[in-house]
Amino acid sequence: MAKIKSAFFCQECGYESPKWAGKCPSCGTWNSFVEEKVQKDIPSRHNVDWRSDASPLRTSKIVNLEDVEGAEEKRWLTPDAELNRVLGGGIVAGSLVLVGGEPGIGKSTLFLQNALLLNNVKTLYISGEESEQQIKMRADRLKIKNDQFYLLTETSTQSIFQEIKKLQPQLVIVDSIQTLQSPLIESAPGSVSQIRETTAELQRFAKESQTPVFLIGHITKDGSIAGPKVLEHMVDTVLQFEGDQHYAYRILRTIKNRFGSTAELGIYEMTGNGLRQVSNPSEILISQREDMLSGVSIAATIEGMRPMLIEVQALVTQSVYGTPQRTATGFDLRRLQLLLAVLEKRGGFHFGVKDVFLNIAGGIRVEDPSIDLAVLCALLSSYEDIGIANKICFAGEVGLSGEIRAVNRIDQRIAEAEKLGFDKIIISKYNKKGLDLNKFKIEVLAVGRVEEVYRILF
Ligand code: TYD
Ligand code: MG
Repeated sequence: MAKIKSAFFCQECGYESPKWAGKCPSCGTWNSFVEEKVQKDIPSRHNVDWRSDASPLRTSKIVNLEDVEGAEEKRWLTPDAELNRVLGGGIVAGSLVLVGGEPGIGKSTLFLQNALLLNNVKTLYISGEESEQQIKMRADRLKIKNDQFYLLTETSTQSIFQEIKKLQPQLVIVDSIQTLQSPLIESAPGSVSQIRETTAELQRFAKESQTPVFLIGHITKDGSIAGPKVLEHMVDTVLQFEGDQHYAYRILRTIKNRFGSTAELGIYEMTGNGLRQVSNPSEILISQREDMLSGVSIAATIEGMRPMLIEVQALVTQSVYGTPQRTATGFDLRRLQLLLAVLEKRGGFHFGVKDVFLNIAGGIRVEDPSIDLAVLCALLSSYEDIGIANKICFAGEVGLSGEIRAVNRIDQRIAEAEKLGFDKIIISKYNKKGLDLNKFKIEVLAVGRVEEVYRILF
């Protein structure tokens, strides 16, 4: 029996140290060291290798880049167009994909559904969280049948690889990486050393057998995938599944992708029987209303590669308490404070005595800065209690001095607004250069400063 050793691991970045330290020398985080038992160098290491008839030692040699044969990476398209999009065009053979998301957001549903939809692909779904009956119940709810779908409720990587060898699956899904345990490491499942070891074992399996592996991972409160950053370095692709649990919409974002762009995004709606792909998000994200309501404006944003029209709602009321409240859902609170400061200083509006609430429709988090102008207009509309005409939308970033700045891919935004029947779009005058306005039927108004927008609207 080998001696059990322990080491201290930074829970933030995975840095390993033989003794405890208050501050991590690698990433600078305070109080992040936790002691974990590690057992190293046990001779039976090859027992947990996915192929116990261990491959002969490979010797590497230097090659000239010109001599390397460029192999087209093999990809399969899944029936889910949104998933294909975020993966950069389908599942790549031998890739290791990590999917993060808050508990209850629908990660298990998404991958169970996709695995069941993949016909003629032998899939192994490894669950350390739910029983076979629970998964069966969920599959019944999804109403999809597939005779090539196999389940394994197991957490030890040693047993998992034994089963994999017998079944020879073409796709492996692990739900979740935090439940796996390698017999090589003493510490509890979910600890830094366990996550690192089990991921490394699965990575070896994925690369050597050319089988794609999806790892589902939980997310901590601050939005990072639980377990250290090393996990993100080890995998090829990191996806994030997000949304507000009280709303039906979910977004699948690409955070990292060795096989494609990270500017991709998939949109789903959670229904009573699984997730539904949303192919034209604008039509559901703006409410179809006839009357003008104050505090509501429409932003022409681009999320991922897709233009999307989103409704912004603001409520500005007289503050009752000494310190005015500011709340934002789906929008960065600091950005809201900045826009309020711009209105206060450049426009002379007295937001300092008002409570401000801001909400992006559908529970969606928007990262595109072009939503600034719509947020600003919604704030002004609620402040003045004057509605903005229904058929106007906005695309512009707001600068600190109150200038309206240009945003990228303005043509696409204008075209989307036109397609959805808008009459007018307000953009930055710096976007107007080089823009062929004759090709649009929609009226395009170009503005340079916040004051000009105010004069147009109110
Ligand atoms: P789940 O996939 O278990 O989330 P995660 O794996 O991310 O923790 O999904 C959780 C929620 O999804 C649960 O509250 C129920 C809901 N749900 C539906 O609304 N419709 C469905 O068809 C399914 C399967 C789940
Ligand atoms: Mg789950």
